[in-house]
Amino acid sequence: MAQSLWFLFIITNLVFSAYADQLQRFEHPTKTHDSLSFLVLGDWGRRGDFNQSQVALQMGRIGEKLDIDFVVSTGDNFYEDGLTGENDSNFEESFSNIYTANSLQKQWYSVLGNHDYRGDVLAQLSPFLRKIDSRWLCLRSFIVDTELAEIFFVDTTPFVKMYFTNEAGHKYDWRGINSRKAYISNLLKDLDLALKESTAKWKIVIGHHAIRSIGHHGDTQELIKHILPLLKIYGVDFYMNGHDHCLEHISDTESPIEFLTSGAGSKAWRGDINEKNRGGLKFMYDGQGFMSVQLNHTQAEIVFYDVFGQVLHRFNKLKQLHSSI
Ligand SMILES: *[C@@H]1O[C@H](CO)[C@@H](O)[C@H](O)[C@H]1NC(C)=O
Ligand SMILES: *[C@@H]1O[C@H](CO)[C@@H](O)[C@H](O)[C@H]1NC(C)=O
Ligand SMILES: *[C@@H]1O[C@H](CO)[C@@H](O)[C@H](O)[C@H]1NC(C)=O
Ligand SMILES: [Zn+2]
Repeated sequence: MAQSLWFLFIITNLVFSAYADQLQRFEHPTKTHDSLSFLVLGDWGRRGDFNQSQVALQMGRIGEKLDIDFVVSTGDNFYEDGLTGENDSNFEESFSNIYTANSLQKQWYSVLGNHDYRGDVLAQLSPFLRKIDSRWLCLRSFIVDTELAEIFFVDTTPFVKMYFTNEAGHKYDWRGINSRKAYISNLLKDLDLALKESTAKWKIVIGHHAIRSIGHHGDTQELIKHILPLLKIYGVDFYMNGHDHCLEHISDTESPIEFLTSGAGSKAWRGDINEKNRGGLKFMYDGQGFMSVQLNHTQAEIVFYDVFGQVLHRFNKLKQLHSSI
């Protein structure tokens, strides 16, 4: 008896360890199976201030027009310091009561930003928030699989060494991350495996921090070192992020990757744009706004909008219809 229990224990452990590390996956079948559209917003939760409400209004309008499937948040969801707990009224004041348009009553997929780590980090990840507002889904790293596209959400804050050395003088809630090194190396292993196995036509990686940006924070060296090589090896089409409070499009000069920043959900106009002559720079707007993504089997269309819903920049990326995956 004891022996068979022990055997069961070993088997369970083996199964558990084989799967425990893998990224959680959400299947999100699209309306038609042939196309997908979603909005991308970052750096937003300020109780409607700094044009957050104006951006929300235009997202509602464009969301309706494009009949979006969901919304993606690139992090820094709640300012200044994330949520204080799962009952923090900032959740409703900055999310539920702001994004009220019909078209935005869809699933929201969110990652954490550095500001979110300054509060009770577990609060935003808590299923309790989904009871308050069922649209909310925020996890550290996970995959949304729409068949046409696979979207890999990556928790980038722990990559940034500066936050651990307290240079900026802020306190971070690192619960769940006992060792930065082990956390990053596990995450990279999982991401590598997931990208390797992906057969989706479009591969998109989402993180809070920019790999390439000419805004205030600029490039994130840790991501250039650890994430960029994976994007290149596995033919990722787009890397999308927030963190810099602007809208940007930079084409990689060495690969087909397009770097897209959508971090303009509220406070913007910082006014410190660097390297205006950066190679591959296609577009940079220092004010508020958001981005839309439309995909089908042959092309992707990316559009950036300002607080009036006016199109600031638009581009297409083509795929061969019959190219092997
Ligand atoms: C809101 O947006 C308008 C139009 O871009 C801009 O002129 C204004 O400065 C913005 N307000 C804030 C607080 O950023
Ligand atoms: C949040 O509020 C609910 C309902 O009022 C309560 O059951 C729960 O314990 C609260 N959570 C925290 C962390 O205080
Ligand atoms: C993809 O969308 C573009 C733009 O709407 C359209 O011209 C094209 O025919 C579509 N391709 C397929 C395979 O549906
Ligand atoms: Zn940030």
